[in-house]
Amino acid sequence: MRVPSTPSRGAVPLPGEANRGLAVRAMFDRIAPSYDLLNRVMTLRVDQRWRRRLVRDLALHSGQRLLDLCAGTMDVAAEARRQQPGACVLGADFSLPMLARGAKKTGLPAAQADALALPFPDRTFDAVTVAFGMRNLEALDRGLAELGRVLRPGGRLGVLEFFRPESQGSRLVHGAYNRLALPVLGRVLSPDPDAYRYLVASMERFASRPEFEEACWSAGFEGVRGETLFPGVCGLVVARRAGACPLPDEEAQG
Ligand SMILES: C[S@@+](CC[C@H](N)C(=O)[O-])C[C@H]1O[C@@H](n2cnc3c(N)ncnc32)[C@H](O)[C@@H]1O
Repeated sequence: MRVPSTPSRGAVPLPGEANRGLAVRAMFDRIAPSYDLLNRVMTLRVDQRWRRRLVRDLALHSGQRLLDLCAGTMDVAAEARRQQPGACVLGADFSLPMLARGAKKTGLPAAQADALALPFPDRTFDAVTVAFGMRNLEALDRGLAELGRVLRPGGRLGVLEFFRPESQGSRLVHGAYNRLALPVLGRVLSPDPDAYRYLVASMERFASRPEFEEACWSAGFEGVRGETLFPGVCGLVVARRAGACPLPDEEAQG
């Protein structure tokens, strides 16, 4: 598909604000070279454990088709291939610099695509993963509708995200880390410290995990179940596209 060219640097609009797509893509284009390093340092490598858990919860079978959307540098796609070598795994993202790094790193196929207008027919995939991508979409409801469209009935959706923290305790931990540690790391390790201001602000403006789960039910997903993986920081939500009986071992997982 054709994706318009990268615009110049500027403030990146936050969740709920209009016209975010191009600015978000330009920001990821700029930070692509330092993205993996920053992720590992910022989370002390726990991010990889979260991705392993995401893929494990999808219980992929050999021959199944997985779309890793907002794939970035394709760590989730690589983990999926590691856990289920017989799965057909495709990474998709609208930032070419992120995706190019991912394709080179993993050797897996990749497609440049906008999550809000995917270039795939209805019911193409058995499973879709989105790790730390939903928060960046211009419209959450349109994103969920598009994910539902490309999943087969009974197909599984797995989302990892920095949801907005709800309890006062987790807001305190989250606020302290985000205001003290993240800006310093962003300044030292990234060519674009603004991107890390965006990261903090976008977490605080995004849906909480219960709100996101509600949005999944409203978009027609079933069996929506969420879990906090790190209090005040990271959550996992798994859901099933309505319309068909799940496979037996999917059913065992709820
Ligand atoms: C925080 S990164 C996450 C990358 C990867 N999933 C991971 O686990 O590290 C978010 C990614 O979402 C992509 N993205 C944001 N909005 C998108 C959209 N509308 N369509 C496709 N990709 C999008 C960005 O380009 C970026 O690579």
